[in-house]
Amino acid sequence: MNRAAPVVRLRVPTDEDAVAWHRIFADPDVMEFHGGRAAELSVYEELTARQRRHDAERGFCLWTMVDGSGRVIGFTGAQPWPGDWGPKGEIEIGWRLGRAHWGKGYVTEAARQTLERVRGAGVAEVVAMVNARNARSIAVTERLGMRLAEVFTIPGSERRGHCYRLNLHQG
Ligand SMILES: CC(C)(COP(=O)(O)OP(=O)(O)OC[C@H]1O[C@@H](n2cnc3c(N)ncnc32)[C@H](O)[C@@H]1OP(=O)(O)O)[C@@H](O)C(=O)NCCC(=O)NCCS
Repeated sequence: MNRAAPVVRLRVPTDEDAVAWHRIFADPDVMEFHGGRAAELSVYEELTARQRRHDAERGFCLWTMVDGSGRVIGFTGAQPWPGDWGPKGEIEIGWRLGRAHWGKGYVTEAARQTLERVRGAGVAEVVAMVNARNARSIAVTERLGMRLAEVFTIPGSERRGHCYRLNLHQG
């Protein structure tokens, strides 16, 4: 792909960013694979506070994405896998973008910045856990060159999930 990457900046999420995430993610399209409906503000307050702790402890987290005009458009970054199943103890990369900003390459660019920072922090390998029907998210993993390592059943559901992996010391 030869298109110029869009301008996107990553910053550690502030308390105010919880309000921005809550507002831009309150959309059924964005939440299709995250319970189907908007999450409470308290969910984002907890999530952003947890990311600030990750940043302090590890030097990376799920960062707030800011576009070229300073608008908050979503999050992308890395965190320890938060589940009590799956790739426990590993580093997960993840992304969520406001609906108005899909289709512009923001997350692929933010994920590339994420991989550089995480590699710089000494992480050898990352995983991405994606619902098997989430074609847009799977396309991001493909653009990043991740490989499908495992297909699993999402606990508590009949749904299938994909675990993608990327070794950060190759190439
Ligand atoms: C998954 C999600 C982040 C993908 O967003 P996206 O905008 O499709 O992904 P990118 O930012 O990588 O953009 C790629 C798209 O921008 C287009 N694009 C435009 N300019 C581009 C550029 N310079 N570089 C790369 N892609 C560009 C690509 O062609 C592609 O569009 P297409 O899918 O219509 O072909 C988004 O759909 C989302 O937030 N979903 C809801 C939350 C979610 O499911 N998160 C993942 C959980 S695992």
